[in-house]
Amino acid sequence: MSPVSIIDAIYRLFLKRCLFGCDAERAHRMTLRMLAAIPAFTPPRDGPELGIKLWGIDFPNPIGLAAGMDKDAVAIRGWEMLGFGFAELGTITPRPQAGNEIPRIWRVPERRALINRLGFPSKGMEAVAPRIKRIRKAGISIPLALNFGPNSDTPPEGIAADYSALIERLGPLADFIVINVSSPNTPGLRTWESPEKMSELFAAVREHTSESARGRPVLLKISPDLERNDLFRICETALALGIEGIVACNTTVAREVVGVSSPHPGGLSGRPILIRTRELIRDIYTHTRGQIPIIGVGGIASAEDAWLHIRAGASLVELYTGLIYEGPALVARIKSGLADLLRSGGFRSISEAVGIDR
Ligand SMILES: Cc1cc2nc3c(=O)[nH]c(=O)nc-3n(C[C@H](O)[C@H](O)[C@H](O)COP(=O)(O)O)c2cc1C
Repeated sequence: MSPVSIIDAIYRLFLKRCLFGCDAERAHRMTLRMLAAIPAFTPPRDGPELGIKLWGIDFPNPIGLAAGMDKDAVAIRGWEMLGFGFAELGTITPRPQAGNEIPRIWRVPERRALINRLGFPSKGMEAVAPRIKRIRKAGISIPLALNFGPNSDTPPEGIAADYSALIERLGPLADFIVINVSSPNTPGLRTWESPEKMSELFAAVREHTSESARGRPVLLKISPDLERNDLFRICETALALGIEGIVACNTTVAREVVGVSSPHPGGLSGRPILIRTRELIRDIYTHTRGQIPIIGVGGIASAEDAWLHIRAGASLVELYTGLIYEGPALVARIKSGLADLLRSGGFRSISEAVGIDR
């Protein structure tokens, strides 16, 4: 029995019941603590057909951890052990902040969804930097993305300076960077998704960061609540600005339209956003003629979900909510299912399948 199957058996036999019996945020904290405490073991090597190279970075497989799960980079080794091909850590803010008042995460189990209005609780960049340095020194086999957001008390004229400070301090520690302008829980953040504001932001960030800090690919994380025309304008702006990739997508503020009724405010994730995410991926892929790599994130809970995001145009995929409902063996299951789907479809690699359903 592999270490992951043992962890999974423990999860299915009693841990899931115990965690689901707690408030969602407490369960999240306990999960991170347990993951950080597991003695390190080497995960099995992935088959070469699952590997993919993007921006000069080798990904052992295309399944990544989505931002939000490990905001302060406390369980990096755990993500590697569960078999993820990369992990996106954050959202990290420049200064520490507490986020919104509790309660701020709710489960919607009948829809295999979560709602959160966390508002970027973060220990801040100075707390995260030494953790990543330490893990890099010890050696890590998967790429690490760092996801950046501004502090909630930063006025609009200081937003570019917040992103610049993050890039300057943490950029050199990242394999790639994700600029998060799409969280629904930081008032005003999504206004930076507009092409005009985006151009202003990227110009200011480029001006205020050193070349060495900027040497990493920079991706933009977008919201699922964009109108189609706005999405197309964002794609054109991303191409014009030389943005290296798009992460589609963050949580949605929609409810009825995705079949969820809930009194809780905030961003909805999980199964209800699966189809919307796939539409976005296909639209971005088609509109950019595959020129910008896409990380598809939203609703993935099986190999088939990941496969269809890839076929719609995603070169990499990520998940968060699926892990909560399906448990720690999900990543291994998706990888083995993807290898089967590749084989049965006659594909020799993931990149051959990217965008074939466009
Ligand atoms: C509790 C929670 C916290 C999140 N926090 C962040 C965050 O800090 N930054 C971010 O870019 N996305 C955040 N997300 C969004 C996820 O990264 C992802 O885009 C979204 O949940 C859709 O993927 P999923 O359906 O697999 O969960 C969060 C999601 C959840 C459920």
